[in-house]
Amino acid sequence: MDDERLRAMREEYAAAGLAESAAGDDPVALFDRWLADAVNAGVHEPNAMALATATPNGRPSVRLVLLKGADARGFVFFTNTESRKGAELAANPYAALAMTWHEVQRQVRIEGPVHRLSPAEDDAYFASRPRGSQLGAVASPQSQVVPDRGWLEDRYAEVDRAHPDAEPVPRPAGWGGYRVQPQVVEFWHGRRGRMHDRLRFTRTDADIASGAGWSRDRLAP
Ligand SMILES: Cc1cc2nc3c(=O)[nH]c(=O)nc-3n(C[C@H](O)[C@H](O)[C@H](O)COP(=O)(O)O)c2cc1C
Repeated sequence: MDDERLRAMREEYAAAGLAESAAGDDPVALFDRWLADAVNAGVHEPNAMALATATPNGRPSVRLVLLKGADARGFVFFTNTESRKGAELAANPYAALAMTWHEVQRQVRIEGPVHRLSPAEDDAYFASRPRGSQLGAVASPQSQVVPDRGWLEDRYAEVDRAHPDAEPVPRPAGWGGYRVQPQVVEFWHGRRGRMHDRLRFTRTDADIASGAGWSRDRLAP
């Protein structure tokens, strides 16, 4: 695609913005539409998201993970539950997510409590992964210090030998999914002159308990 066309595309997104009328009342539905727009715009790994966790005394850490499910219940990712993020979530089950789609000048931020998926959900997703990823998940003690690359490759080869091709690789006990239950969802859309659009949806524990809807606020960019 030539530069002129790319520039024109940015102009188009900047002009479109995010109006309250277009945003609607349901941030999960809006998130779905924005993810589809990112996919249609050809964003590379549109489901990559920064996941921030923190220790109980408030030391944050952040890394990228892949979004593997999004609906009214929350935003799902999978990982080693004994990793650094797993340990932080066990001690302090709250997380923040950020996704950015530069091509369409958009960002989404999500915050809320985190819940472990059920073993059945963990198993179903693990079974759907390519065999190589399954073997890697069994072989790699994610976030632990290891002697060297050779040690990891030996472990992988050992796990490979232990699981003949025709047999399914069982999910390791320390591997599974988490669902971030959205209580704050903020949509950012780039506009000209740094006059960006920001709409924040919030829902407290009390709102959830009473079945109340989301509140929506416009924030200064
Ligand atoms: C684009 C991208 C996607 C990733 N997706 C995942 C993922 O879905 N699950 C995961 O455990 N690690 C994923 N990683 C690796 C993590 O960023 C991180 O290195 C790993 O989970 C260990 O993090 P921790 O030590 O903070 O627990 C991804 C990395 C990148 C760059």
